[in-house]
Amino acid sequence: MSKKYNSISIVGSQWGDEGKGKITNYLSKNIDMVVRYQGGNNAGHSIVIKEKRYTLHSIPSGIFDPNIRNIMSNGMVINPIALLKELSILKKQGIDKYQLFISDRAHIVMPYHILLDEIYENSKGKDKIGTTKKGIGPAYTDKSSRIGIRFVDFLDDELFKKILKNNIKNKNKIFKSYGEMEISFNKIYNQYKKIRNEIEHMIVDTSIMVYEALENGEKVLFEGAQGVLLCLDHGTFPFVTSSSPTSSSIPVNVGIPIHMINKSLGIVKAYSTRVGTGGFPTEFNNKISDFIRNVGNEYGTTTGRPRRVGWFDACLVRHAARVSGFTDITITLLDVLTGLDTLKIATSYIINNKETKYVPASRKDFNEAKPVYVELKGWKKDISNVKSFDELPLNAKKYLKAIEKHVGVKISQLSVGPEKNQTIDINEMFNNKGKNDK
Ligand code: IMP
Repeated sequence: MSKKYNSISIVGSQWGDEGKGKITNYLSKNIDMVVRYQGGNNAGHSIVIKEKRYTLHSIPSGIFDPNIRNIMSNGMVINPIALLKELSILKKQGIDKYQLFISDRAHIVMPYHILLDEIYENSKGKDKIGTTKKGIGPAYTDKSSRIGIRFVDFLDDELFKKILKNNIKNKNKIFKSYGEMEISFNKIYNQYKKIRNEIEHMIVDTSIMVYEALENGEKVLFEGAQGVLLCLDHGTFPFVTSSSPTSSSIPVNVGIPIHMINKSLGIVKAYSTRVGTGGFPTEFNNKISDFIRNVGNEYGTTTGRPRRVGWFDACLVRHAARVSGFTDITITLLDVLTGLDTLKIATSYIINNKETKYVPASRKDFNEAKPVYVELKGWKKDISNVKSFDELPLNAKKYLKAIEKHVGVKISQLSVGPEKNQTIDINEMFNNKGKNDK
């Protein structure tokens, strides 16, 4: 029999903002390692610990426990200036004892990436993607074009200077063509040189660290950012981010073999939200969507933008479960729906007069998709202190059972509020004890 590893991947199953940070933090009890595997500071993970709210953008959610090793893997693009700022905010909030490691193969987000993100977005007019303007797309573009700067290159001053000089020369041609001001090599070089000594002790080959931890039977959480529908390959292209949040991307994004990922937990919001532009079949705008936005505090953690709101779309989550491979799902923000008379779940779409259960690749078809709904009765009783599935009102149980049936993956956890103790376990997620277990 092949070896069983003690690992879970935590993946957003919709368009991000499903509450992954809270669930990672919840599962990180007695955990040994948390690995963030893609994206950068475009993410916003909001975590409440003892009524205090913390916001993480690029730092893994295990940062609050000094026993946990936090890894920023090679699949990420990392803005070191923003990272230091994030760390200094945490320090002001009393979080100053932690273990944080940056992959030497991760790419650096440079100031010109942020400027390019802004320029490309503005040039798209009404077709803009609605990016977070953190330079994520242009940084991944440079990685694919093989001109990006990795942290290991940053440590080698001569090499860093050489690549940076070339890049700035080329980027200035682009800035000029858009009628923008050119940027100065000296300014950026000096700025980055200054921060090198603040981060160099964190830069290591994280692939070896993660591999060895798993081989030693340690408990490892893989933490994704965004959601599967924002995946560059399997999302609603082109209104997506520039990396793959799927579980299936982890081996490449971390540098470990496929068989080391034991379970994959899809984080599923009890309704749908989206920030940025792009199709959204179950979106609606009325008093009920305003209610959900207000109760669920559906405003972007990174940008503050009001999120678009829609009914639960089982087609999307089924798609995410298939391309990512979910063994279990967690339903989050169920409490937000308390008080509504009727709830809807989209189970298929009508596209070009035909019914389909699948998410189309064509943006035109997706824009025109008309959801086919099942309607269920809501519940009035406050569920935010409920401690077990059995205690839930009958209609909440029926709603969850309908989600499970239409998505086709078992629900292993429920979240009924932002605090850790507002989480209900239905199935155990880890098989055995890790190093940090007493
Ligand atoms: P980018 O990742 O900044 O390039 O933005 C691309 C798309 O992904 C935009 O629609 C963003 O709103 C969306 N996006 C990026 N990060 C997040 C996130 O953490 N939550 C939700 N949407 C996100």
